Amino acid sequence: MDTPIENHPHLVKTVVVPAAGLGTRFLPATKTVPKELLPVVDTPGIELIADEAVKLGATRLAVVTSPSKQGILAHFNRFPALEETLIEEGKMDFLAKVVRSAEIINVTPVIQNKPLGLGHAVGLTEDVLDADESVVAVMLPDDLVLPCGIMNDMAAVRAEFGGSVLCAFEVSDDKVSDYGIFAVESTASDDVHRVTGMVEKPELADAPSRFAAAGRYLLDREIFAALKRITPGAGGELQLTDAIQLLIDEGHPVHILIHRGKRHDLGNPRGYIPACVDFGIRHPEYGPTLLRDIKAIIAEFEEE
Ligand code: G1P
Repeated sequence: MDTPIENHPHLVKTVVVPAAGLGTRFLPATKTVPKELLPVVDTPGIELIADEAVKLGATRLAVVTSPSKQGILAHFNRFPALEETLIEEGKMDFLAKVVRSAEIINVTPVIQNKPLGLGHAVGLTEDVLDADESVVAVMLPDDLVLPCGIMNDMAAVRAEFGGSVLCAFEVSDDKVSDYGIFAVESTASDDVHRVTGMVEKPELADAPSRFAAAGRYLLDREIFAALKRITPGAGGELQLTDAIQLLIDEGHPVHILIHRGKRHDLGNPRGYIPACVDFGIRHPEYGPTLLRDIKAIIAEFEEE
């Protein structure tokens, strides 16, 4: 029996996690290992996303994967043979680590057979949502937005303004063509802007602002209808950005909450390695020695 929406503090029951990409920016590691399973210290990136969904009060993760990335789903299942071995060996700390991903949230798999774009991936999840869910929460697993919990703040913005709320952060000129970029009008709050347009990966000259989408979305359920009407956009893919632009055109309120904290991009080595260092030096067990060792590596490098 599904939990009713009233039992979810931020009225979000399901978080959609698009995880069907080929991970080309991370080859050869991602030849057989899904990039979402690469560890940040010892925990796969997608488990950190599951933690964020739990923090939001969600009880279901709709994970969109491709047929060749079933390892992602296995990570959220129990593993009886491994669990028995750990029990026999008395390794109860490790047992807890192995069991937790299967315990914290229910995972519903959604298969995307072809990488047709983020908009296509999100559109596939319509049937997973219950009738009482009015918002489609999306977390992109490449993006770590820190400190964890921005979606909770976005839910408060949605409660105030209605419609859809996205997370944005400011990027430099050389980065605008990597992101969805917003055209905005200010509101009474410095951190909340009303969105008047959104364009996917524009050239610098066409970028309406330096506010970029940060991979966290609370979208009105109307997004599914919009997703059925878009045609291939940037990169020849069905873009979520274009469906959001349709909602804006039709008068749906769309706002951004500006994130002024940290963000890591786990989707390529340039962003992933700093994330590992950042989490590593703060880790209760590994932190002190890692900090010392990393400092030594840098000092040695600088002397070379
Ligand atoms: C996607 C979105 C883009 C957003 C970005 C955030 O792009 O299409 O609008 O700014 O995630 O990471 P991707 O990085 O998947 O190409």
